[in-house]
Amino acid sequence: MRIDILTLFPDTVSAVLHESIIGRAAKKGIVEINCVQIRDFTENRQKQVDDYPYGGGFGCVMMAQPLKSCLEQVMADAGERRSRVIYLSPQGQPYTQETARRLQRGYDHLVLVCGHYEGVDERFIETCVDEEISLGDFVLTGGEIAAMAVADSVCRLVPGVLADEQCYIGESHWDGLLEYPQYTRPELWEGRAVPEVLLNGDHARIEKWRRKQQLRRTRDKRPDLYAAFEARNGEDEKLMREIERDEGRKKLCEPVTYRPAEAEDIPRILEIVQDARESLGRFHVDQWQGPYPGAERFQEDIRLKQCFILESAGEVFGFFVLSTLPEPDYDAITDGKWSGDVPYCVLHRCAVAKEYRGSGAAQALIRCVEAQARVYGLKCIRVDTHRKNKPMQNLLRESGFRYRGNIHVDAEPGHDPHRQAFEKLLKDKK
Ligand SMILES: C[S@@+](CC[C@H](N)C(=O)[O-])C[C@H]1O[C@@H](n2cnc3c(N)ncnc32)[C@H](O)[C@@H]1O
Repeated sequence: MRIDILTLFPDTVSAVLHESIIGRAAKKGIVEINCVQIRDFTENRQKQVDDYPYGGGFGCVMMAQPLKSCLEQVMADAGERRSRVIYLSPQGQPYTQETARRLQRGYDHLVLVCGHYEGVDERFIETCVDEEISLGDFVLTGGEIAAMAVADSVCRLVPGVLADEQCYIGESHWDGLLEYPQYTRPELWEGRAVPEVLLNGDHARIEKWRRKQQLRRTRDKRPDLYAAFEARNGEDEKLMREIERDEGRKKLCEPVTYRPAEAEDIPRILEIVQDARESLGRFHVDQWQGPYPGAERFQEDIRLKQCFILESAGEVFGFFVLSTLPEPDYDAITDGKWSGDVPYCVLHRCAVAKEYRGSGAAQALIRCVEAQARVYGLKCIRVDTHRKNKPMQNLLRESGFRYRGNIHVDAEPGHDPHRQAFEKLLKDKK
């Protein structure tokens, strides 16, 4: 792998990248990193690389000519390699481990162009750059730190740079999870012991413990990654179920029952709403992140006799609001359509208490919703869910609901109004 970094600060970048692991790999010739001074390619006597922006405005913009001449030189030096020209930019695609893998597998020559000042002349990007990469949604003064991050993370994937492939396989972000916790000597430090399982040499047990730790810490630290993670095999599925159980979850006792809610149920309903609010927040769903739905909303649901309480072994574990009133927001559906002009009921607010999550409580909620729809004499249930609410979308799909299109809901002004619309047509009971 050859990496050419086009920069106004070649000495700084070179000093960092020629240290430690990557520096040793460069010495052995496994990777080649060249830091090239853009200023050496100017065609003016003052060696000026930037100028004022057309149209006015703050700061200076890097000129296209020195960048292009510099690029032409490194491309000529690189010869017949699979090259990729990358401009480090806050406007690029966010950089991930997956990008590092793609670049290492797909190319053996990367050109990393570092901008400075207010950026670079757009015509250089349009004509010379294959892709733009961002280190994150923030602005650096120059592309050097981002280029060093890309160079370092790609180089360590090149065979021979690390002692063993196993060094990076299984690391954080390798297969969508974070790495398990690591410990080194001493065995006891400030009263804290290394987990016993790591000391007995039972490799099968250690492997299982580590996989469970990977799943658990991803769930705790990065619920967004955990929500997107798909179990690789039955063992993963078993461990994920175990983790839910370990969290002091309550078991759902059959038969689950439901009954119309009463005013005295409102404090418990609001507790369950709070559980859901925290969970939605962790998944970056901006639904229920304000005061909605509050006590007044549920008083009204109870007055309309459309709010129901779910119970298991005498304990309230959830609620749902199932309305027979047509929903005006559902008339304007886009990117699809409802099954037809049939009478329907609408599943509105619903949630299960956090200690019952993973126990089948959500599935039981849907079963009770269907039972109540039949009591209403309706065979069509419609529901909408926030476009980022993946757990709810998964539950609906698993329960036989079909995605029908998109709608807008304005129940919470100032919040994301986009919702996915789902529908289930109940079959006649045999
Ligand atoms: C001050 S920034 C220019 C930002 C530019 N005016 C804009 O608003 O998009 C100067 C240089 O820093 C680099 N840079 C800044 N933020 C970056 C980021 N998040 N990721 C990668 N490179 C970045 C780019 O090379 C950019 O040309």
